[in-house]
Amino acid sequence: MDLYEYQAKHLFDSHGVPVTAGEVCATPDAAHEAARKIGSAVVVKAQVKTGGRGKAGGVKLAATPDEAQARADDILGLDIKGHVVRRVLVTEATDIAEEYYVSFLLDRANRAFLAMASVEGGVDIEEVAATRPEALALVRIDAIEGVDEATAARIVDQAGFPAHIRDQVTAILVQLWQVLVKEDATLVEVNPLVLSADGRVLALDGKVTLDDNAHYRHASHADLVDKDATDPIELRAKEFDLNYVKLDGEVGIIGNGAGLVMSTLDVVAYAGEEFGGVRPANFLDIGGGASAEVMSNGLDIVLNDPDVRAVFVNVFGGITSCDAVANGIVQAVGALADRGTPVTKPIVCRIDGNNAVEGRRILTEFNHPLVEMVETMDDAARRVAQLAGGAA
Ligand SMILES: Nc1ncnc2c1ncn2[C@@H]1O[C@H](COP(=O)(O)OP(=O)(O)OP(=O)(O)O)[C@@H](O)[C@H]1O
Ligand SMILES: [Mg+2]
Repeated sequence: MDLYEYQAKHLFDSHGVPVTAGEVCATPDAAHEAARKIGSAVVVKAQVKTGGRGKAGGVKLAATPDEAQARADDILGLDIKGHVVRRVLVTEATDIAEEYYVSFLLDRANRAFLAMASVEGGVDIEEVAATRPEALALVRIDAIEGVDEATAARIVDQAGFPAHIRDQVTAILVQLWQVLVKEDATLVEVNPLVLSADGRVLALDGKVTLDDNAHYRHASHADLVDKDATDPIELRAKEFDLNYVKLDGEVGIIGNGAGLVMSTLDVVAYAGEEFGGVRPANFLDIGGGASAEVMSNGLDIVLNDPDVRAVFVNVFGGITSCDAVANGIVQAVGALADRGTPVTKPIVCRIDGNNAVEGRRILTEFNHPLVEMVETMDDAARRVAQLAGGAA
């Protein structure tokens, strides 16, 4: 998960990296108030998860609260490389003497981390890297040893930072490494890291990518999730701990195991060609060993997708036993009816494998007008495509 600048700086601040004070604002009025509180010239900065904001007109200086309000009004709603600006960061303007670049990133190919640093930072760093690679110091960081003061000093020297700020930059690099390690980030980047006219080194921008696989270790990171930008159904699926991806078709898909679900997507898309180009509406893997509860959560998610016209439950019982799957379907249908939102869409089930006979018996006995069983995967795909395509 990529963070917004203001979130990245918040993490920086909590690990001791010097940043300027600021406030995120969603309206021009709030920007006016934030600038008034800061009490000096400010910079109004678009909060979007993409680089090059400055060049796109998303970073503006404002000398007074009135100006801050006007600049926020200009920037809010701006489209920067497909990202619409919903909030701005209003932060103290720094009198900049020099702009530098520093970052740490995961270097998968070398099973290590990479430190990058340059005394020629700022908005043209990409060009510096492309045309004069010697101006960008690259230092391999051992994942176990990490970055202590000595390693940080090596990066500082290799990049050629001036002697009078060597200690400040070294300390910041150690702190940024702590951000990476303690927060489980795969990228921590500061561009620009600046030297202010009064001799302080500060992070004026921040880019952090958190490792989603480590999300469970950080209760506080839940607050960083950008709920506006996430599909609401995906968000709910995540709360249920389901592997769900929204797609743009009409057939809801539930299966156990990523391989089976992917091939289910293929057979449904293939079968759908015959019925007006019907396609899968989602990917949902309820995993191996899925319980009745998981099946029930899965159906709840898929049936509540307004794009879904019919659902295909394709389960091959291995660890999962088919009677649990069948019970899950029965429970989910019952729970939805109890909630006052009874199932109105057809559900086609193909269940095979471990305890299939018992699973099928349960569904036959359930005898629900919208729940059908089809013996094979291909036939079931054809049937569900037909139903989603509008035929009865
Ligand atoms: N607080 C500040 N005070 C003064 N100048 C600033 C401040 N913040 C940013 N700037 C100036 O604006 C430029 C662009 O800002 P910033 O790097 O935050 O956005 P960006 O253009 O999106 O950068 P990137 O492409 O690295 O994402 C900086 O290089 C710096 O010169
Ligand atoms: Mg920048």
